[in-house]
Amino acid sequence: MNILIIGATSGIGKALFEKYVSEGNHVGVVGRRTNLLDELQIQHRYNTFAFAADITKQDEIELAIHTLCKKLGNIDIAIVCSGIGDLNPSLVYALEHPTIETNVKGWTFVIDSLYHIFEKQGYGHLVAITSIGGLRGEPMAPAYSATKAYQINYMEALRKKAFKSGGHITVTDIRPGLVDTAMAKGDGLFWVMPVNKVANQIISAIRKKKTKHTSPNDGIFSPSSIRFYHSTCIDYCSIIRAR
Ligand SMILES: NC(=O)c1ccc[n+]([C@@H]2O[C@H](COP(=O)([O-])OP(=O)(O)OC[C@H]3O[C@@H](n4cnc5c(N)ncnc54)[C@H](OP(=O)(O)O)[C@@H]3O)[C@@H](O)[C@H]2O)c1
Repeated sequence: MNILIIGATSGIGKALFEKYVSEGNHVGVVGRRTNLLDELQIQHRYNTFAFAADITKQDEIELAIHTLCKKLGNIDIAIVCSGIGDLNPSLVYALEHPTIETNVKGWTFVIDSLYHIFEKQGYGHLVAITSIGGLRGEPMAPAYSATKAYQINYMEALRKKAFKSGGHITVTDIRPGLVDTAMAKGDGLFWVMPVNKVANQIISAIRKKKTKHTSPNDGIFSPSSIRFYHSTCIDYCSIIRAR
């Protein structure tokens, strides 16, 4: 298969890259950190295609997607992992702004571009890593939770659009809880999932063409446990990280 991962230099995207590439797939990878992209390329030189781009810069990301599509040929799966978020207990707009620019503006440009590519191809599987954080407003990180809510809603809209257009495009929304990556560091965190385990669950959800998937699994996150998760886990983690 030909797979494109936007935001593959670290964390969930990198774990997905490693699993897909080791299965012999051809994988295109995007991120801003060129040194990390070079490492991925060196490790798997024959089936990795890397291009550095910032999703908030339309010219850069447009060129990256165009170039990687040319190199890979048709794209079977495109996974959008790129995202940022800051704790912002004092509600400083300067902290919210980059999150909105990345998770809303840049993200939408990427998602729309990939959707159009699949429309042209006549098929494709579009996947976004949103967050369980998008299901409730989070007082310690308002822009992060709100931008993730936007992404969840947007993916639902595209899923309906794809269905109306004949169902040749699959749209999957992956909503992880806390995952052990750069985005969720701190002492004493709990309910933090190992990134490899999460990547396996994501790959399984993609294989099953699930419309949405909550990690660790859909069963654990009932509406009441989501409330518990937010009121304890995320606030607790936020307090630790804000110290
Ligand atoms: N970790 C968690 O607890 C958790 C929970 C729920 C959802 N998520 C979501 O999972 C996704 C991946 O996060 P992660 O946990 O794997 O954290 P991470 O290790 O920080 O990964 C974030 C990825 O996004 C890329 N990225 C960020 N800004 C970008 C930009 N402007 N242009 C291009 N790429 C950009 C980064 O690459 P460069 O820095 O090289 O550009 C990196 O590859 C995010 O959308 C996050 O919101 C994470």
